[in-house]
Amino acid sequence: ISLQVQSDGGNASSPILYGFMFEDINHSGDGGIYGQLLQNNGLQGKNPDLTSWGSIGDATIAVDSNNPLTSAIPHSLRLDVSEGATGTVGVTNNGHWGIPVDGSSFQIYFWIKGDLNSNITARLVGNGTGTEYASTSIQISSNSNNFTYIDATFPTTIAPDGNVYFELDLDASEVAGSSLYFSLVQLFPETFKSRQNGLQPRLANALDAMNGSFLRFPGGNNLEGEDEGSRWKWNETVGPVEDRPGRQGTWGYYNTDGLGLAEYFYWCEDMGLDAVLGVWDGYALESGGNTPITGDALSPYIDEVLNELEYILGDSSTQYGAMRVAHGQKDPWPLKMVEIGNEDNLGGGCDTYGERFTAFYNEIHKTYPDLTIIASTAEPSCLPPNLPNGTWMDWHNYNTPDGLVGQFNMFDNKDRDVPYFIGEYAQNGVDWPVMKGSVGEAVFMIGLERNSDVVKMAAYAPLLQLTNSTQWKPNLIAFSQAPSHVVKTTSYYVQQMFSANRGATIKEVKSDSPFGPVYWVASTGNDAYYVKLANYGSTGQEVSISIPEKGNGKLTMIANDDPNAANTDSENPVSPVESDVTATQGNFTIKLPAWSVAVLVAN
Ligand code: AHR
Repeated sequence: ISLQVQSDGGNASSPILYGFMFEDINHSGDGGIYGQLLQNNGLQGKNPDLTSWGSIGDATIAVDSNNPLTSAIPHSLRLDVSEGATGTVGVTNNGHWGIPVDGSSFQIYFWIKGDLNSNITARLVGNGTGTEYASTSIQISSNSNNFTYIDATFPTTIAPDGNVYFELDLDASEVAGSSLYFSLVQLFPETFKSRQNGLQPRLANALDAMNGSFLRFPGGNNLEGEDEGSRWKWNETVGPVEDRPGRQGTWGYYNTDGLGLAEYFYWCEDMGLDAVLGVWDGYALESGGNTPITGDALSPYIDEVLNELEYILGDSSTQYGAMRVAHGQKDPWPLKMVEIGNEDNLGGGCDTYGERFTAFYNEIHKTYPDLTIIASTAEPSCLPPNLPNGTWMDWHNYNTPDGLVGQFNMFDNKDRDVPYFIGEYAQNGVDWPVMKGSVGEAVFMIGLERNSDVVKMAAYAPLLQLTNSTQWKPNLIAFSQAPSHVVKTTSYYVQQMFSANRGATIKEVKSDSPFGPVYWVASTGNDAYYVKLANYGSTGQEVSISIPEKGNGKLTMIANDDPNAANTDSENPVSPVESDVTATQGNFTIKLPAWSVAVLVAN
């Protein structure tokens, strides 16, 4: 196969083509990228139980409803110490199926009520082994009238696995026969970029290394809720964490909302991402059998969105802008994109989406004409007959590897007037991304990049998976609570290779062969040329590439003979291999093995 990258002409490519879709699924937020490590730490929800908590010594624990910390955190953990108790008593928390102790400096925050003038020891201990990874003594002076706030920073040593629990313990003789109340106990490692209430570094680092351009949040289905009452409500995710009640998430577990609206914007700031804010549009999950809200009944929900936008974009003279300032963020956040709803093409959402989209669009656009507004579907029958100028459409695509390859040219002849956002896509039908599917994704992405004048953004989904709590497979990155455990799947490497190597202009490539099984796209920018290649086939292929005025380059490649090869929690057969390459007589000769994806950067 001979390819000649042309020097003249070309199409501008979208500068924000690759990025992230995030929602709390698979404990990707609580127990995942959100840095707080304890599970059920605020005993949130209507009927909280003692999940993850335990007691030590001659004492028992209970959920207490008579000593609220705040109206948002109405329950506390009561430790009842027996009369005459001796030795050590206390409480334990097992984290989210363990705790990743990474050797960084940890922080603990909690509230305590009860008469105590003594020390509490915070410890991180190996389950079964008893190995101590941290121990710090904290002087407490608390009373039984009010909660007293405690915080401490302490060193840790790296644990070999995630089988670690946290404990707070006391000298039993100091508290025998009394009760102590603990509320909203929080434990953080050193977070990504040391952000307060920030992200777990090992997962944030894996994302940061992908060099993405945007973050879509907070869902996905988790935006929608099972019903109107359990929709994601921005105003309950902001301000001090003790004022956040949390909510029943869509994916089967309670969300603390410690990772809230502001934290998403700080995530964007710390990784250089554009925010894509999803807003609730009157339609909860179709699986809940809900009837969409329409007509005048939509008004409160439109107001809710306008308030949210004022919180994000308003200055301190506005009600909600002032609230943001009071919460510690002086400047408005640089929001540019808002998506109305999620997958409104599904189930009973389609028929009324035109009306609902228009109602939200008109009010948002009136106040914020510069925002790009994205419809949650590209299905013509669900959209208003005349989509307002400048609107984008979100299209989701979970497909087989062959299906993804079959969609290689689906954008070649699309109307250029209405841009696309591929808000979610991935291979489906497998537990882990497999090589064949990842090459299929690369072929699909080459098609997107060739058309990135009209395809503005694309994100793999779902992004993260705690292997102990999985609601959706496959995912881009998996992890357990072992402190260094991050499974970078074959699809992760495809995303990283494509995202980290982008030119501003897509160049024409002349060839002597049609597309398939080898696919390619070339771009240029920053005085370099980028050629992306995918071999969706079981035999090797040789590709000769001429690039204007370039004779040296770096090749990054992933490959595996086995189309079912997968990086999993037990084996990692695929990782990128880099090599220096030189053109001979003006041509780079690239040997593409079976099932391979490669990026050549010539400069
Ligand atoms: O990515 C998992 C789910 O797939 C998303 O929540 C939803 O938008 C889609 O159906």
